Amino acid sequence: MYGDFAAVDGIDFEVAPGESFGLLGPNGAGKSTTMRMIGGTLDRTGGELSVLDMDPADRGPEVRAHLGVVPQQDNLDEELRVRENIVMYGRYFGLPRSYLLPRSEELLAFAQLEAKAGEKVGNLSGGMKRRLTIARGLVNEPKILLLDEPTTGLDPQARHILWDRLFRLKEAGTTLVVTTHFMDEAEQLCDRLIVVDHGAIMAQGTPRELIREHSTREVVELRFGSDRNAQVVDQLEGVGARNEVLPDRILIYADDGEAALEEVGRRGLRPVTSLVRRSSLEDVFLRLTGRSLVD
Ligand SMILES: Nc1ncnc2c1ncn2[C@@H]1O[C@H](COP(=O)(O)OP(=O)(O)OP(=O)(O)O)[C@@H](O)[C@H]1O
Ligand SMILES: [Mg+2]
Repeated sequence: MYGDFAAVDGIDFEVAPGESFGLLGPNGAGKSTTMRMIGGTLDRTGGELSVLDMDPADRGPEVRAHLGVVPQQDNLDEELRVRENIVMYGRYFGLPRSYLLPRSEELLAFAQLEAKAGEKVGNLSGGMKRRLTIARGLVNEPKILLLDEPTTGLDPQARHILWDRLFRLKEAGTTLVVTTHFMDEAEQLCDRLIVVDHGAIMAQGTPRELIREHSTREVVELRFGSDRNAQVVDQLEGVGARNEVLPDRILIYADDGEAALEEVGRRGLRPVTSLVRRSSLEDVFLRLTGRSLVD
């Protein structure tokens, strides 16, 4: 609760050790609020929460010792240098310098920031700060890593490298709890996920199950030009299982996309561009929340 507003109301899930679990949902859905309660940085006003068989509200420090937390907003110490940020953070966990100095070198390599080790954090680019926040979250070799939109602001290459690193952590047994707005990220990283909106769970399952349950096999994307999309949609009635009109395109949901596209042509409609693709998680979100995730 924030004041008398319930940001999260009835989000109920379990994550198995070693699993990679995703929370997806539009802006304001309650993802970060959930993550902050798990991390013990926000008190909850009701419900039950158990992290490694402990309630973070009662045993915050013990829980946090096993958690790696990457908040949505980087909260680095801008005055400190890059390496010092990692070392100082480790000091909060009571880790000795003899451990932290070699560990910080490993983590700088992990984040590809070796060349910036002595730089003030304030002088880093946004993506570099993000990578440093993630590296810092690993200083205590956490059993559970909480990642709130880990790759927002990273360039494509840095994202792919990070996915690879996270995958290796997962292989080594680390449990990942991730929020993201990127469907490719969810499909890459998450064994299982929940879709949340308005503080509640709308659907849950593996990416494949969610697509099977909430979308058709294929999707046809048509662009008629932004002012014509809404006019044309009436003439598409009955083509495919259902339509979705977005500002820039119309989506036709159909198991056989090519057949649907042929029917569009038979009706005398001539889109500027057309594309048949497989359904993705993006379609699931659009269906469940009525909103595109990347806005
Ligand atoms: N400190 C706060 N005080 C009051 N209301 C808050 C606070 N933090 C979040 N909220 C509200 O709680 C709701 C959920 O916010 P939350 O940050 O958990 O969403 P989110 O799913 O992480 O969204 P985003 O994708 O934008 O990060 C929103 O309606 C938000 O306005
Ligand atoms: Mg958030």
